[in-house]
Amino acid sequence: MLQINPDRLWQSLMDLARIGATEKGGVRRLTLTDTDRRGRDQFVAWCKEAGMTVEVDGIGNIFGRRAGTEVDALPVAMGSHLDSQPSGGKFDGAYGVMAGLEVVRTLNDADIRTRAPIEVAAWTNEEGSRFVPTLMGSGVFAGVFSLENALEAKDVDGISVREALASTGYAGKARPHQLGAYFEAHIEQGPVLEQTKTTIGVVLGALGQRWFDVLIAGQDSHAGPTPMETRKDALLAASRLVIEVNRIATTFPDYARGTVGFMQVKPNSRNVVPGEVRTTVDLRNAKDATLSSMVEELKRCVARIAADCRVEIDLKEVVYFPPSEFAADLVESVREGSKKFGYSHRDIVSGAAHDAVYMARIAPTAMVFVPCEGGISHNEIENARPEDIAAGCNVLLHAVLGCAGTA
Ligand code: GLV
Ligand code: MN
Ligand code: MN
Repeated sequence: MLQINPDRLWQSLMDLARIGATEKGGVRRLTLTDTDRRGRDQFVAWCKEAGMTVEVDGIGNIFGRRAGTEVDALPVAMGSHLDSQPSGGKFDGAYGVMAGLEVVRTLNDADIRTRAPIEVAAWTNEEGSRFVPTLMGSGVFAGVFSLENALEAKDVDGISVREALASTGYAGKARPHQLGAYFEAHIEQGPVLEQTKTTIGVVLGALGQRWFDVLIAGQDSHAGPTPMETRKDALLAASRLVIEVNRIATTFPDYARGTVGFMQVKPNSRNVVPGEVRTTVDLRNAKDATLSSMVEELKRCVARIAADCRVEIDLKEVVYFPPSEFAADLVESVREGSKKFGYSHRDIVSGAAHDAVYMARIAPTAMVFVPCEGGISHNEIENARPEDIAAGCNVLLHAVLGCAGTA
């Protein structure tokens, strides 16, 4: 049975992880920084070595392409992202891209021609950490966001995506094109597979998400003379917001999640009542109606906190996508692939966002999950076992070949 080369896949992941390596064994490859550029350059070089042609589109998505025998057949694509969280791990995103590359290398070794072309995509700014919205590259490709709007997004220092693309040399000219199917391999980023001793997660879909930028405007004042009952303390309001977001997520059903992960306090001086806080809210749920109810509850809390703390709170929605469902026949091919190789498997819903969420809007899509150590991700210590990494890639190979057909 055709199998991928586990050592080569692992080595590519480790080689890639040297670019932006952090002290604790993770990576810091923020979108469209020079480190991200080096990761992209490495991927492009490997694609070319594997005989693929490479194209880059206007938002910097990279597509390596291996020709098929049928000229008109729509490509079967695999992919994920090379950008990372500020203190990210070696596998989040990188795995899906390197697994796609390994599938192509395996086909090359075995001299297998596919009917449909095969593509390996590296999507720009999946993480949404430096630039909002998250899933930016796949969103532009799928027509969810306009290229113009995406190019105008700015990071906290005021640098736009357009400027960052120009400085890294990844503003390309390729136009969005149709795909026959899309597959993404990823570590689970949660504890279910490890806890149940399961090798493959057959991903049915992903939680819906709604993200908010929050600006809390109070008033700077002296920490001594200003009476407690007249203060306009923006950080007090933000602290209450953190508690409410946590309460909402722990009291609503349907896999509710709620996170405040970013905060900037001004003037950030120990003897000044803080006059301004910029923060964020990330709400997730498996049901769109429940997600909406969580948002309504958030808005009620925000109004109450603003009144109680004598501050103004501006809540701006910056990301919304409903829960997504992947294509039943592709999901089945992932299940079949697991059975074929004798891997334990179970159905699972993704708590994380993935480029597959937007790909599912324009092409039949499925995902393959593998366990990660302790279910920890978005952390430098993120880790996965080489045998699981290889297993996920074998399943990917099987599923892609099933769709692309052999000549
Ligand atoms: C992507 O990493 C997410 O926030 O789910
Ligand atoms: Mn990811
Ligand atoms: Mn991530």
